[in-house]
Amino acid sequence: MLIALGVCGGIGAYKAVEVARGLQKRGHDVITVMTQSAARFVGPITFEAITRRRVITNQFDPGVNADIEHISVASSIDLLLIAPATANIIGKIANGIADDALSTLFVATRAPVLVAPAMNTQMFANEAVRRNLDTLVSRGVRFVEPGEGYLACGWIGKGRLAESDEIVAAAEAMLRPQGPLRGLRLLVTAGPTFEDVDPVRYIGNRSSGRMGFAIAGEAARRGAAVTLVAGPTSVEPPPVADVVRVRSAAEMHQAVLAMADEQQVVIMAAAVADYAPVERQAQKMTKDNESLTIVLKKTPDILGELGQRRIATGGGPLLVGFAAETEDVVRRASAKREQKHVDLIVANDVSRADAGFDVDTNAVTFVGPEGTETLPLQSKTRVASAILDRVEKLFVERAAERPAKAGHYDGR
Ligand code: CTP
Repeated sequence: MLIALGVCGGIGAYKAVEVARGLQKRGHDVITVMTQSAARFVGPITFEAITRRRVITNQFDPGVNADIEHISVASSIDLLLIAPATANIIGKIANGIADDALSTLFVATRAPVLVAPAMNTQMFANEAVRRNLDTLVSRGVRFVEPGEGYLACGWIGKGRLAESDEIVAAAEAMLRPQGPLRGLRLLVTAGPTFEDVDPVRYIGNRSSGRMGFAIAGEAARRGAAVTLVAGPTSVEPPPVADVVRVRSAAEMHQAVLAMADEQQVVIMAAAVADYAPVERQAQKMTKDNESLTIVLKKTPDILGELGQRRIATGGGPLLVGFAAETEDVVRRASAKREQKHVDLIVANDVSRADAGFDVDTNAVTFVGPEGTETLPLQSKTRVASAILDRVEKLFVERAAERPAKAGHYDGR
């Protein structure tokens, strides 16, 4: 495979030499694209000697435009890997700025992009940088998270470029032929539901939709035809085949049930309201009384109904549910798995400040047919990847147990 390795000016630039070597050892061809400041940390000759290819440092070198280089490289690469990626390049590519060879290549290529950020801890935590990272995630850019530890600038914290073998492994994972999800129809629900009380008030919850969005984005990258049924949230959904916007549990119920039969996998990551007001007031309620009682009724259990359908028909999509718990997590999640007849429950302790609602990280336990497995705290993108690894495994096992009932041969 042909990989463009973008190198930016940071102390981690020396590790990019190891990355180039690692990729070559695994049989890939590497074209190095260095920013002007990267060339102050490591000489282009070093990369040239290793990759045996001319290193691109300037888009305006004489001769380069005879074969508009960034365009021909852009259309021939299988992956653009930027390691180390500074706050500067992250800001540029998140905003479509193309003012040097590397940022122009990013704008010009349709190849998948993998970014390994490296910067000072404070810079990594800066709100503008976080926003740029969010923008890139929502556009399908993948990341190799920086490590924690002693930084060259003397700080201790998160920001150090990931180790070169970790970057090489992540690049290889992106290049590997797509697995069992390719071509499958997969429906994901995400976000909260809002249950209207009157024209201006509603009962909602703190779900941001990030976990479900991460799953939908990752499933699309693995080649699934993804339908995302999203509740009201301000987070940008990932680019997937179909996004259906809903507001209430009743609307989500209707949307999911209408499409479930066409799906091979349904993942219910939404935080569906369990109760909704019996009546929505037509006019804004006034504060005439000292106390107020709003009568609520149970909403339909969407996942529970899908499980019931499965029992009734003996078929249907593979079902994955979430269990948001504040205590006794595994026992309660196992009970939900049995009650709702689902294949896999992803349980999370939402009482933790660093996991669950409205944060970028999650700590989950899988409760599946083979028992339980707890994952360490990690980004929702990585948790999404782990969930889909499980789904792929379950899907393959299920397909082996239940051979297709009838085939269609359309070639006659
Ligand atoms: N769920 C659903 N429909 C509902 C409520 C929940 O499909 N009306 C789904 C959620 O999307 C999740 C799973 O069921 O995948 C479990 O949700 P959770 O809120 O943890 O559990 P509940 O079934 O609502 O039970 P309880 O609130 O009593 O813990």
